[in-house]
Amino acid sequence: MDYGILLSTAKTILNKEENKIEHKLQELCDLLQQSVEHYDWVGFYFANQEEKTLHLGPYAGLPTDHTVIPFGKGICGQVAVSNNTFLVDDVTAQDNYISCNINVKAEIVVPLFVSGQNVGQIDIDSNTLNAFTSEDRLFLEKMNEEIARLF
Ligand code: SME
Repeated sequence: MDYGILLSTAKTILNKEENKIEHKLQELCDLLQQSVEHYDWVGFYFANQEEKTLHLGPYAGLPTDHTVIPFGKGICGQVAVSNNTFLVDDVTAQDNYISCNINVKAEIVVPLFVSGQNVGQIDIDSNTLNAFTSEDRLFLEKMNEEIARLF
């Protein structure tokens, strides 16, 4: 996968004038899930700072029961608190993990910062062990910087 080309395609989607943010993020989820073989589920969660919860936004892949996740719970909830990207090679090795689907083996969660505040995250699940590398991390961190411009 050429992440440079994927990032340009993502920018084209994000820079479209006519679309709502939700539509752009949905298009982005569909693009990533279809373009990268090891991205089996791609979705966004957004933070409610008062309630300290994450809420599922646009996603591509199987539906999940986990549409609301408290801060601190699971990989997603931990990223809401730590403000750091969390790359999981093997989800069975994690105590604080919320399973959305028994086929998932690895996960990466990258926080989305808007004006320095952690407002949400992109969450990607893979059905392949050790699926994610620093290349995925860099690509997704750059993509989130582009998304942040829309807010
Ligand atoms: N596995 C995540 C929950 C979200 S699902 O992957 C869609 C977690 O542990 O936070």
